[in-house]
Amino acid sequence: MKTFITKELYKSRKKIFFTRSILRWNEQVNKRCMPWKGEKDPYKIWLSEIILQQTRVEQGRAYYEKFIKAFPTIQKLANAEDEKVFKLWEGLGYYSRCKNLLASARRISTDHDGKFPDTYNDIITLKGVGTYTAAAIASFAYNLPYAVVDGNVIRVLSRYFGISIPINEALGKKLFQQIASDCLPATKAGIYNQAIMDFGAVQCKPQSPFCLECPLQKKCFAYLNQAVAALPVKKKSTKKKIRWFYFMVIHVGNKVYVRKRLAKDVWQNLFEYVGIEVSKEMDIPLFLKTKEFARIIGKGKGKIKVISKWYRQSLSHQTIYGRFIKITVDKPLASLQDFLLVKTDNLKNLPFPRLINSWHEEGSKKG
Ligand code: ADE
Ligand code: SF4
Repeated sequence: MKTFITKELYKSRKKIFFTRSILRWNEQVNKRCMPWKGEKDPYKIWLSEIILQQTRVEQGRAYYEKFIKAFPTIQKLANAEDEKVFKLWEGLGYYSRCKNLLASARRISTDHDGKFPDTYNDIITLKGVGTYTAAAIASFAYNLPYAVVDGNVIRVLSRYFGISIPINEALGKKLFQQIASDCLPATKAGIYNQAIMDFGAVQCKPQSPFCLECPLQKKCFAYLNQAVAALPVKKKSTKKKIRWFYFMVIHVGNKVYVRKRLAKDVWQNLFEYVGIEVSKEMDIPLFLKTKEFARIIGKGKGKIKVISKWYRQSLSHQTIYGRFIKITVDKPLASLQDFLLVKTDNLKNLPFPRLINSWHEEGSKKG
């Protein structure tokens, strides 16, 4: 596809038309309602944007409201116990977001007297806050002139201006950032940023956008050139890695072995059972014969009570399969000194990865 964009063109009336139309659409047509919309408290905006980084709006809404209710101010969040915050985050995944949130709240609370940073350069130093999130907070809370560039914004710009550079390559990202900044009305940054994201979400949607009733239609490259479905262009990424885990849910009386994961990965700070990663989709008889299984349980010591199906959790860079084996043993195992023995009644208070909670919800009830 030929690339339509040239400096002259997007600096011309086409760009002015774009910005005006988005603002007018926002005033006259946009009915999108979200609890953080129009919010001016930077703490609440920050929270909403961190939640929305990897979570859909519909799912994020309930979590946002739960959090604001439990921790209405940054001080309340800073003073909360880790476990309580992680428990509230449960189900959202990507827990590094939650960890960063808590660490930053504590830093702001102790070093800055609870006052949220109010410049872009200070906001972006917060952990877990990149260019998108910093621009969102700076513009929504303080109306500072920073353009947000997320998937919605990129889609609208690439279709309207006819930009076919792959959006997941460095050059493409830079170009979209520049065009977005050029289109930003400096004195209405907050309103405009929210408007263009809403426009992308409800009007210029990924599938079947409403071109026939679109205020940009008469100058939209994609519409005029039958390129709506072809834009934006994304370069195919390499295949996701697949990993297989066996989790042994080992009971001693009314207690069970768990541990907190400290490794710096997607499950950091969450709890898990005694897990063993296997190199392929190994079946049960083979797994029970592995050295790892023998080392942990010991010969003839455990009674196997339940064997689950494979559960699956899909993450951005990997797909994880996990299978659960409920085992009872008569006394504590010497091989598991790094693990905690907790009462089964207490499991519900601990945060677990989604994969493990899927088993809690369905599988563990059987038998
Ligand atoms: N996604 C991330 N932030 C958003 C916002 N403020 N409005 C709509 N969708 C979003
Ligand atoms: Fe998007 Fe269609 Fe409007 Fe162009 S005309 S901006 S493709 S909804």
